[in-house]
Amino acid sequence: MNYKKFTAEEAASLINNDDVISLSGFTATGCPKAVPTALAKRAEAEHAAGRPFQVGMYTGASTGESADGCLSRAHAIKFRTPYQSNKDSRTALNNHEMEYFDLHLSELAQYLRYGFLQKPKWAILEVCDISDDGKAVLTSAVGISPTIACLADKIILELNSYHPKEMVGMHDIYEPLDPPYRREIPVYKADDRAGSPYVQLDPKKIVGIVETNLPNEIGAFTPMDDVTAKIGQNVADFLSAEMKAGRIPKEFLPVQSGVGNVANAVLGAMGSNKNIPAFNIYTEVIQDSVVGLIRSGRVKLASGSSLSLTTEVLNEVYADLPFFKDKFLLRPSEMSNNPEVARRIGIIAINTALEADIFGHVNSSHVLGTKMMNGIGGSGDFCRNAYLSIFTTPSTAKDGAISAIVPMVSHFDHSEHSVKILVTEHGIADLRGLSPRQRAESIITNCVDPSYRPLLRDYLKLSRSGHTPASVASALSFHVAFAKTGDMRQAKFEA
Ligand code: COA
Repeated sequence: MNYKKFTAEEAASLINNDDVISLSGFTATGCPKAVPTALAKRAEAEHAAGRPFQVGMYTGASTGESADGCLSRAHAIKFRTPYQSNKDSRTALNNHEMEYFDLHLSELAQYLRYGFLQKPKWAILEVCDISDDGKAVLTSAVGISPTIACLADKIILELNSYHPKEMVGMHDIYEPLDPPYRREIPVYKADDRAGSPYVQLDPKKIVGIVETNLPNEIGAFTPMDDVTAKIGQNVADFLSAEMKAGRIPKEFLPVQSGVGNVANAVLGAMGSNKNIPAFNIYTEVIQDSVVGLIRSGRVKLASGSSLSLTTEVLNEVYADLPFFKDKFLLRPSEMSNNPEVARRIGIIAINTALEADIFGHVNSSHVLGTKMMNGIGGSGDFCRNAYLSIFTTPSTAKDGAISAIVPMVSHFDHSEHSVKILVTEHGIADLRGLSPRQRAESIITNCVDPSYRPLLRDYLKLSRSGHTPASVASALSFHVAFAKTGDMRQAKFEA
């Protein structure tokens, strides 16, 4: 191999204050780890010497402790997009210590190519193999890697031997042309391949390689509780009934399932429901439950942008690569989350809401209207364009002091026009074809926790005219009550 080998510290020493870096990976998988950690140390040393040191940062989605965590604590990030889920980066952006802007994940690659955002100077990519002519095999995620590899002036590679070189073939790397030359992405079924197994890098841009052997940093799931199990069951029962009614074809349709515990539970419940045939997954993050479903033959193929698997489960996949290799397809987020593909192949999208309102608007990103949780992620890419868009949420949070269903969402990510089905542990509201008054009735009856139903019915009585029975004066009364008393059940309405 012709490339220079150097240490993570030597690599980090090349990056300057105000540079813009871009990282491989998608969630805390497939991201570089050694160089960002060394960069955080460099930032701390520069700050200690009284010099400014901050970089802009583009990623596929969230990253792990070694990137977002270390860099946020070192106050080394000036701006960042598109999604994060690390507690230190959440704190930093909510404290205005970094500028963060939230973007649909499918859009970032084209935003960069269109020149809407500052061009990255550095692409730092985790790979498991690299040839002398620049063919790079990515590891457990793709994200925006093909685009940043092309746009960045310089490339640093982390060659991570934790990931086997034999995984070559799991990736499907494709970048669309930009308008006015763009054609359709040639994916007509979840398992169609459109691209190449590797990212072609310009060898002249590769400044060096840092050799590592580091696992990913995906956190463990909290064990399934009664509420998440019931939500999963409700979704599976609903989909099974839709099949019986002939509204989902007998072959079933590709499933997209969001991030977190609820999403993991939903897929598990769908796998156990024998009325649902074996299905394909076309999603962004492939979580732990999928691996068991592939083993049991309930999932035939999972296409996504990342294997967001806990270390134990990823090891299981790597130990049995000949079995798993043709059952996963890892693609750029521009492709895994593509609205055109979602609409064409008829995705059943299942995402988690933080908060929904009685008319079906959804807040996926902001706690109580102001504090950023993670970001919109791919939920908007999928929900607007899905065959069927389902949102799930536990009906309450904080031991019942918060109702996840409120008169009006305190932040707005997905509108009533995109949200088709709402599911909590109490039941399902099928909003298709319902007027705002009918929606409110269905959501209150089927999804709201019983302790909040009378309050929400009283709210509906406030407005007697207009198409949507909302009260401008009392729309945020639940949030006001929580801020004042710590309990939304104390809400008071103004007529
Ligand atoms: N108001 C205030 N806080 C709330 C709340 C509400 N309505 N609903 C939940 N919370 C709190 C919970 O109590 C919990 O707090 P804690 O961390 O102090 O325990 C926290 O928010 C997270 O709730 P939880 O139910 O554990 O969330 P989750 O792991 O199921 O994730 C989302 C839910 C919405 C944050 C997550 O799915 C997400 O980031 N979605 C946006 C991106 C997306 O949908 N991507 C998928 C596309 S493939």
